Amino acid sequence: MAMSEGECVRLDLNESPLPPPREVIEAAAREVERANRYPEPSRLRLLESLLADYAGVPEGYVAVFNGGDEALRVIIERLGGEGVAAPRYSFTMYKYLSRALGSALEELEMEDDGEWWRLREPLEPRSRLVIIDSPNNPTGSPLLSEDLAVSMLEKGHTLVVDEAYYEFYGKSLAGLTEAYDNIIVLRTMSKAFALAGLRVGYLIARPSTLERLAAKALPFPISRPSLEAAIKALELRSYASEIVRYVEAMKPRYRAALEKAGFKVYGSKTNFLLTRAPSTDALKKLDDRCVRVRRTELGPEWVRVTVGGEKELKALINALSD
Ligand SMILES: Cc1ncc(COP(=O)(O)O)c(C=O)c1O
Repeated sequence: MAMSEGECVRLDLNESPLPPPREVIEAAAREVERANRYPEPSRLRLLESLLADYAGVPEGYVAVFNGGDEALRVIIERLGGEGVAAPRYSFTMYKYLSRALGSALEELEMEDDGEWWRLREPLEPRSRLVIIDSPNNPTGSPLLSEDLAVSMLEKGHTLVVDEAYYEFYGKSLAGLTEAYDNIIVLRTMSKAFALAGLRVGYLIARPSTLERLAAKALPFPISRPSLEAAIKALELRSYASEIVRYVEAMKPRYRAALEKAGFKVYGSKTNFLLTRAPSTDALKKLDDRCVRVRRTELGPEWVRVTVGGEKELKALINALSD
């Protein structure tokens, strides 16, 4: 009998292999009992202020969304009318949302040195709105230095820095929001905070910029369980560092397993690895064994592999040595 997707080994979505702490799960579960009540605006304000503290920006600089995807939709809808520039290889949602919302997509060229990827310079986007994931999905490479970001801000672009993998990299450009009103930083609690299923994303920008985006137009952007889980997660925030440490310890083992099977593996400042399989046959073995990895636009042999846990690693090794 064919297995359902849910029973497959999921190394295709860059999720955390570890669940959040019990207290976080319980905080969400308690709220399901109050499902007849709308979320409390004061709890949303508390979450925004905890996130501002976590990001090291002033109060008022954070707006919460139902996942980073929803924040991207709002950005592209409000600011993407004259086109969107994004790295040629980047988070698939940029392309998907631009197409769905009728914005022309301009691709920024990239190049690699065999280990890391970067944007090809000089970087001269024609579009006013520029979205860059740094570290980049699917390459795992940081793409934006502070100098490169500032040069685009000084030229008047609206720069969206997608820091979905911030915790794995440890460096942020969120501090630039105090000096520039044309930078917007996107973050998510889906990765290092292990809350992908509860959908908590947020934007960091000057209050006037958030207003321009109508980023706080909805009184209930996320559900009661999501709100309370996110608040508890920030109160217990050191667990995110433990997840990062766990992933960093697993990463060389995933790399070694893939290299042993003949895959070329790139450097990574994220919880996934960009790889090039020795052949599409190797990928078929993974498919046949229900080990899901993510195809990329780099070519048929190029796949992105999430750094998961022990169980997933064993399944990957077994499938590759089959
Ligand atoms: C670069 C990047 N940005 C944003 C997201 C969206 O995160 P979410 O919608 O789960 O908050 C992801 C998820 O994989 C991502 O890789």
